[in-house]
Amino acid sequence: MTVAQPIASRIADPTLRGRVMSAEDAAALIAPGSTIGMSGFTGSGYPKSVPLALANRIEAEHAAGNPFQVKVWTGASTGPELDGALAKAGGIEFRLPYNSDPIAREKINAGEMNYFDMHLSQVAPMAWQGFLGKLDTAIVEISGITSDGQLIPSSSIGNNKTWLDQADQVILEVNRWQSEALRGMHDVYYGTALPPHRRPIPLASTNDRIGQPYFRCDPKKIAAIVETDAPDRNAPFKAPDAVAQAIAGHLLDFFLHEVAKGRLPQNLLPLQSGVGNVANAVLTGLMNSPFEQMTAYTEVIQDGMLELLDAGKLRCASATALSLSPSAAEWFNDRAYRFRDKLILRPQEISNHPELVRRLGCIAMNGLIEADIYGAVNSTHIMGSRIQNGIGGSGDFARNGYVSIFMTPSTAKNGKISAIVPKAAHVDHIAQDVQILVTEQGLADLRGLSPKQRAAQIIENCAHPDYRPALRDYYKRAMESSFGKHAPHLMDEALSWHARFVRTGSMQED
Ligand code: COA
Repeated sequence: MTVAQPIASRIADPTLRGRVMSAEDAAALIAPGSTIGMSGFTGSGYPKSVPLALANRIEAEHAAGNPFQVKVWTGASTGPELDGALAKAGGIEFRLPYNSDPIAREKINAGEMNYFDMHLSQVAPMAWQGFLGKLDTAIVEISGITSDGQLIPSSSIGNNKTWLDQADQVILEVNRWQSEALRGMHDVYYGTALPPHRRPIPLASTNDRIGQPYFRCDPKKIAAIVETDAPDRNAPFKAPDAVAQAIAGHLLDFFLHEVAKGRLPQNLLPLQSGVGNVANAVLTGLMNSPFEQMTAYTEVIQDGMLELLDAGKLRCASATALSLSPSAAEWFNDRAYRFRDKLILRPQEISNHPELVRRLGCIAMNGLIEADIYGAVNSTHIMGSRIQNGIGGSGDFARNGYVSIFMTPSTAKNGKISAIVPKAAHVDHIAQDVQILVTEQGLADLRGLSPKQRAAQIIENCAHPDYRPALRDYYKRAMESSFGKHAPHLMDEALSWHARFVRTGSMQED
């Protein structure tokens, strides 16, 4: 069990203890129309108390006929107390850079909330470049304050360094649910700059420490501190089913093949594992692999990665956030000290930095919504127009990794949707950034192939048998009558599978 500490012990700086107040009083400091930089990344380290109080205040203002909305920037996805509560109150006018909250998703897809879905590595640089506008308030969860006023981060770092530096006023949530053993696991790099003053980032291997374990923050800007004791509320992962296990199996065979060919070392290269159930299942699959002494340079640490670390299969892991199921989070909190020399959390501009991903040679493994017969990947938009989550860090890693892998079940919604379609209805990753495609049916190695060669691999190896004949038929007719024969398409028909689903609820012909 986690031993609850007296809450004052988390605020060691006596001058800052005087700024402690209720969440309601802190929320009252936020003006309508403000832009707020919140902590939070994949359901961890987000403020849990002030956003909820702000949502209540917004609801009361709306009931009184007063308009009140705010613009919300984060690291990535947060939790129901933040995105869920504010979206439900109709309080978010604009949101960036990533969301997976179902209520916020509905608002976005109903056209009631503006959403800028962007590469996660670009958020902090764009904020510094001034492209995003002014930041009024930072609301950041931390796990404690040192005696000299430095802020001990919590279970995610995300863009907190940037929010704390850029905001006019800062509201802190000191959360004692977060393990005190997190102290020292963070590496906050303060060496970034804008061109023409940018210097190389001095990180040569996944476990290098190049920064400091704390955020610095001008104490004059700290307007409020709220003490909390609430858990991160991530959704549990689905247990790996037969489909996920088959995907993991194909991927493990591929790794063994690449090692045998001498194209990957025995302990592989730094792993990047995307969000979602399939990515987590692949990590679970690596537990039973012959690979030892692996490393990870990734965005999030999921349950599967924690298991690999604990078992010693993974030597070290660098990320910007934990993204653990509730049970894994409790498990981690009880023994976080075990991971102090194996786990490093960094700002997301470093965890996802394209130049570092390229130089370290990450193995990029990400999920997808659909891929087309030539290998273009849609990670975000269902039927081309309804956003699911966002591109997240998949572009940062897919474009720059040593090898870029995308994986998915071959069908969705009980077989009504094929994940392999004639033409992707939205493209996040162009064919050049998609080297390996894996479904439970098999693996397509697309490296060095022309579009027509890719189509043969993808249709025969990855598509579900129920959809294969229709894909073959489409491709054959496209070869006969397409305007060009380099990447043949029938332009009147290319998106007809999506149109059929929207019309009938299934991509399958009657
Ligand atoms: N059409 C419609 N819905 C689809 C679909 C498709 N082609 N493919 C998947 N879905 C739906 C699933 O049915 C499921 O819906 P549900 O929640 O209502 O059950 C949901 O999308 C998630 O799919 P699932 O098969 O469980 O996959 P996942 O959890 O592995 O997530 C992504 C897949 C693509 C949504 C997820 O990987 C993602 O958001 N990726 C983009 C961001 C990213 O890659 N970040 C990583 C960078 S480090």
